[in-house]
Order: sequence, then structure tokens, then C-alpha cells
Amino acid sequence: MSGRRFDGRVVLVTGAAQGQGASEAAGFAAEGARVFACDLKDDFEAPAGMERVALDVTDPAAWERAVGCVRERAGRLDVLVNNAGISLGKGVLGSTLDEWKAVIDVNLNGAFHGMRACVPLMKTSGGGSIINTGTAMSMHGFYRAPYSASKWGLRGLAKCAALEFARFGIRVNTIHPGLVESPMATRDSTLYDAILEPVPIGRPTSVAEITRLVLFLASDDAASITGGDHLIDGGLVAAGSMNAVANKLGLWD
Ligand SMILES: NC(=O)c1ccc[n+]([C@@H]2O[C@H](COP(=O)([O-])OP(=O)(O)OC[C@H]3O[C@@H](n4cnc5c(N)ncnc54)[C@H](O)[C@@H]3O)[C@@H](O)[C@H]2O)c1
Repeated sequence: MSGRRFDGRVVLVTGAAQGQGASEAAGFAAEGARVFACDLKDDFEAPAGMERVALDVTDPAAWERAVGCVRERAGRLDVLVNNAGISLGKGVLGSTLDEWKAVIDVNLNGAFHGMRACVPLMKTSGGGSIINTGTAMSMHGFYRAPYSASKWGLRGLAKCAALEFARFGIRVNTIHPGLVESPMATRDSTLYDAILEPVPIGRPTSVAEITRLVLFLASDDAASITGGDHLIDGGLVAAGSMNAVANKLGLWD
């Protein structure tokens, strides 16, 4: 793969101040895209030329303002990356109702608002690609019920949206990272090490690797890929719990 796949294209990335979103925004810009990097505040560091926009993904009015800004400045939108997300280290009984709602509001409702705000402009731009950020924990249960449930919901939303938007030439895909070296994961080193332990490839996924998958799904090379769930987890989901059993008992040949 070479060349600039996004020359002339306009891209909006949420949660772009750090971690995966920052890497994705820089990756698109490096391949020629005009990037609108959105986060809660617009005072974060971003590569020169990137346009920073304040956007709380839970706020439909803020989405309308952000997309209005894209329409006014760039006149089109080709790619939406619903990357913003929050986590909460609690389950069903440990979470308050407000905590449950807050996680669902960012991780699931945020993508819903984003699609509703962006798709009309993407339609008039001739189609495009939406990439949502799920998690390997949207493939099975996890002790973080609000987080896991919000991402299972996002998977469902993405599949329905893929069907609904296909006639507009808009593809919808969801990536499912395992353990990614980003502030969300590295801020708790004990948990980080415990999640890393069963990862078959023996290392976390880098933000650069996530970025390469997102750019591929956004590009014309993925023109027939829509409605998909794309694991990028070092084999974590494939391993299930039995990999830990085999490791613990030393059952490998
Ligand atoms: N780090 C991991 O191991 C991992 C694994 C699987 C999935 N994910 C998912 O990947 C995505 C990116 O996470 P990351 O690892 O880069 O995390 P991060 O915490 O480093 O970055 C998340 C960004 O989202 C922004 N954000 C939070 N709430 C927002 C809101 N309401 N509106 C706009 N922006 C908001 C934050 O300000 C931050 O810049 C998230 O959806 C996360 O759930 C992360």
C-alpha cells in the first residue's frame, strides 16, 4: 500500500485529543485528508494544518455545530470515525444509574448522534465510510457491564446503519481492539498487565496498528466491506478462557 489514499477527502475523528483518535487523525492527514479533529475541548495539541473542533459527542446540538463547521469550511464529508469512548471499572450492582447512563451516552448514543448529524453531508458528498470503535469486550462478557453493554449496542447500531446507509454509498464498520497502548489502558498498570497476560501474541496493540486498520476500512480498498466487525486484539477473543488454562497448566507441546 502506498500513496496518499485520502487526497481531496474530508475526515471527522472524535476523541482526537489523545490515544487512538489522535493517531488516526494524524494518519488521515499524512495521507492527504483534510481532518477535523474533535474532542471535548479544542485546546489539545494537533499536527499543523489539522482543524480542531470542540465536540462533546453526547450533545446533538454540538454535533450540528461541528458538522456545520465542516460544511462551511470544507463543503463535504467523506469519513466519520466514532472513536470517543469512556470506560468504568464497575458492574451492574456497582454502577449508579448516572454512571450507567454516562457510559451509554458517550459510547453508544455518541455514535448515534454522529451518524444522524454526518450522514446528510456524506450523502451529498457522494457516499463515504463510517468507522466505529468497539472493543474485544463486545464479543463476550466482562466485569465492566456498562462498558461492555455499550459496545455490544454499538455493534448492533453499526450493523443496522450499514443496511440503512448502503443505498447512499456509505459503508459502516466497527473495529474491536483488545488491549491498546493508550492512556485509557495504561493508567492502571495492574489491570493492564492482567489483560495482557492471556493475549496470544504477547503484547498490546499499538495505536499505529489501530490506525492502519481504520485507514484501510475508510479507503476505497475496502469498497465492498460494510457491516463488519473487525477484531484487532492479538488473538484475545480467539483464545477465550481456555488459553489461560493451557498456559497455566503448561499444556502446550
Ligand atoms: N485502550 C484500550 O485498550 C481500548 C481497547 C478497546 C477499545 N478501546 C476504545 O477505543 C476508543 C479510543 O480509546 P483510547 O484508548 O484512545 O482512550 P483515551 O482515553 O486515551 O482517549 C479517549 C478520548 O475520547 C475523548 N472523549 C471522552 N469523552 C468524550 C466525549 N463525550 N466527547 C468527545 N470526546 C470524548 C477523551 O477526551 C479522549 O481524548 C474508545 O472508544 C475506547 O472505548 C480502547
